[in-house]
Amino acid sequence: MTFTTLITGASSGLGAELARQSAAAGHDLALCARRTERLDALAAEIAASCPAVTVRTYALDVTDPDAVRSVFQRADAEAALDRVVVNAGLGKGRKVGSGKPEANRETATTNVLGALAQAEAGMEIFRARGAGHLVLVSSVTALRGNRKAMTTYGATKAFVASLGEGLQSELLVSGAGGIDVTVLLPGYIRSEMNEKVEQKTRFMVDTETGVRSMMAAIEARKRRALVPGWPWRLIGPLLKVLPLKVVSKLV
Ligand SMILES: NC(=O)c1ccc[n+]([C@@H]2O[C@H](COP(=O)([O-])OP(=O)(O)OC[C@H]3O[C@@H](n4cnc5c(N)ncnc54)[C@H](OP(=O)(O)O)[C@@H]3O)[C@@H](O)[C@H]2O)c1
Repeated sequence: MTFTTLITGASSGLGAELARQSAAAGHDLALCARRTERLDALAAEIAASCPAVTVRTYALDVTDPDAVRSVFQRADAEAALDRVVVNAGLGKGRKVGSGKPEANRETATTNVLGALAQAEAGMEIFRARGAGHLVLVSSVTALRGNRKAMTTYGATKAFVASLGEGLQSELLVSGAGGIDVTVLLPGYIRSEMNEKVEQKTRFMVDTETGVRSMMAAIEARKRRALVPGWPWRLIGPLLKVLPLKVVSKLV
C-alpha cells in the first residue's frame, strides 16, 4: 500500500511549495483548497516534474467542519493518508476594538475552528489506523502577544501550537507510538499572505528556502520546530523571556 500526504491551503504560498517538495521526496499527494483551478495547475506541474507521484485535488473550505471530515475521509478511502498538514490559514487583521471586527473574526474562524476541524478529522483517521503524522502550521507570532493588526492572528497561532502540544502530551502518556504530531513555528517566509509587506522585511526568506526548512522538520518528525532555524532558534527562546516592552519592538 502506498501512503499519501494531505496538505490544506495548497493553492498558494507555503502549501503549494510543500506539495512540490513532498512530491520531489516521493510522497503521493491529496491537495485541498477553495481555489481548485490553482490546485489543478499545481497537480499538472507536479505530474510533469514527478511522473511517479499521484496527485489528487479536493475543493475544501476549512471553515465547514462537515466538509473537512468528509473530504479527509474520502481522500483516505482513495489513497490511505499517512500525513495531514494543517496549513490553510488567513493573515487578515485589524486592531482589536477598531469597530471593524470582520477581518479578525474571519481569521479566528479559519485559523482556530478550521485548524480544530482538520485536527479532529486527521486524528480520527490516524487513531483508527494506529499510525499517522499530524503536522500543524503555527507561527513564531504564537510565542508572545503581538501588536495591532497582528494581535488576533498571533492568538490564533498560539491556539494551534497549544492544540498540537496537548495532543503530543496525550500520545506520550497513552504510548500510541505510531502517531506523531509536529508543530511548526515558521518565521517570515515570502507568500501571498505577506506579498504586500516590504521586500526588505527583517528575517524574511524566500518561499523555497523557508519550506525546505519546514520539510526537514516534518521528515524528521520533530515535535516542535522554529523554521528556518536561523535566526528563529536563537530569537524564539529570547522572545519567551524578554520583557514585553522589548518584544514589542522586535515583532
Ligand atoms: N508566510 C509566512 O511568513 C508564515 C509564517 C508563519 C506561519 N504561516 C502560516 O502558513 C500557512 C500558509 O500560509 P501562506 O503564508 O502560504 O499564505 P497564503 O499564500 O495566503 O496561503 C494560504 C492558504 O490557505 C488557504 N485558505 C485560506 N482560507 C481557507 C479556507 N477557509 N478554506 C480552505 N483553505 C483556505 C488558501 O487557499 P484558498 O484561498 O484557495 O482556499 C491558501 O492556499 C498559514 O497557516 C499561515 O498562517 C505563514
